Amino acid sequence: MSLSPATAARVQPTPALDVERLRADFPILANVRPHGKPLVFLDNAASSQMPRAVLERLQHYRTAEHANIHRGVHFLSQAATDAYEAARRKVQAFINAREEREVIFTSGTTDAINLVMHGYGRKFIGAGDEIILTQLEHHANIVPWQMLAEEKGAKLRVVTLTDSGELRLDEYEQLFNARTKLVGLAHVSNALGTINPVREMIAVAHRHGVPVLLDGAQAVPHAAVDVQALDCDFYAFSGHKVYGPTGIGILYGKAKWLEKMQPYKGGGDMILSVTFEKTTYNVIPHKFEAGTPPIAGAIGLGAAIDYVTAIGMDRIAAHEHALLEYATAALKEIPGVRIIGTARDKAAVISFYVGDVHPHDVGTLLDHEGVAVRTGHHCAQPVMERFRVPATARASFAFYNTFAEVDALAAAVRKVQQLFA
Ligand SMILES: Cc1ncc(COP(=O)(O)O)c(C=O)c1O
Repeated sequence: MSLSPATAARVQPTPALDVERLRADFPILANVRPHGKPLVFLDNAASSQMPRAVLERLQHYRTAEHANIHRGVHFLSQAATDAYEAARRKVQAFINAREEREVIFTSGTTDAINLVMHGYGRKFIGAGDEIILTQLEHHANIVPWQMLAEEKGAKLRVVTLTDSGELRLDEYEQLFNARTKLVGLAHVSNALGTINPVREMIAVAHRHGVPVLLDGAQAVPHAAVDVQALDCDFYAFSGHKVYGPTGIGILYGKAKWLEKMQPYKGGGDMILSVTFEKTTYNVIPHKFEAGTPPIAGAIGLGAAIDYVTAIGMDRIAAHEHALLEYATAALKEIPGVRIIGTARDKAAVISFYVGDVHPHDVGTLLDHEGVAVRTGHHCAQPVMERFRVPATARASFAFYNTFAEVDALAAAVRKVQQLFA
């Protein structure tokens, strides 16, 4: 299918990114042919694919460096420890954390948020205190706070959404009071693509003396993140959404908070000394990394960071934005397609409906055309409830996606529409 000349004229591809050359770095994109069709992978918000550089780094670790870290004097343990700690410094540089001890390896965003809930929440949030969340949060940034609120008798206050999927900032300002103890906020919505004005929202919270936790799971893969410029108190993200392996994630926290916080898990490596009478905890970040951590995952994430840094996060953001504009225009041209989430500032995520067709049927039919999208509530049921839909189909883009793939998506959606017309 081709776009109308008016639509085609509106979209500007980014010549700066040689997408075809970059695609060759991702073996899975060529190796897999669903139902005999070329794979059009548009489920990147769930998990993106790993480039050869990451796969090879993992293989090297497993065949030449694998040993447990921190506790060995032998050669291999030193090699593994060096690689693991080098990965921490890569993360530090990638998000511009002030110090490497502010970077904690976790198993993912969910684990990182739970760490803040246990470490900060259980210590500093009590009966009658309030936590501000928003209606567009992923369940990972709702359920832990609900568990804490139940345990402590605290209260959740929720910023609601406009019809375009933007946060009501006037409402946000008014939610603060003397009992507010934390703001938990998605940097980018996984269900709608909305990019929240987090810098301004953090400044508001800080004026009220309230720390802010950003859920950056959908932001870090798509644009440069600078935690010092944002001035967030905590920042969480996952390796598998930023071209790294599963099982690894990051919690960034300002040292002033991490030092005051209770450890989340107890065990080896997070202690300086243990007797049956008393345990003295290790310094940060080790205080929060009990037991054997995901060593390979951390090293693989480090390789993914090297990879995207070499491409340039700004170039990635520009290409993905061009894809978003092109895909939005293409889908809007199809009769019956309704896009849910039309914020002015959006990441390359498009949630949509095709007439009255259930999103699961849309997803299944697209799959038969080789087009992988996600269907469901995207772990954001309050968003679905806000827009009165049980689910959506969601296409989410990575820098390795092409304009031709958007055409393939649009052609497949058109087929769905015609089938049910
Ligand atoms: C915004 C957001 N937060 C949190 C998560 C949870 O990430 P993980 O499952 O890697 O812990 C996701 C995953 O989809 C997400 O999109």
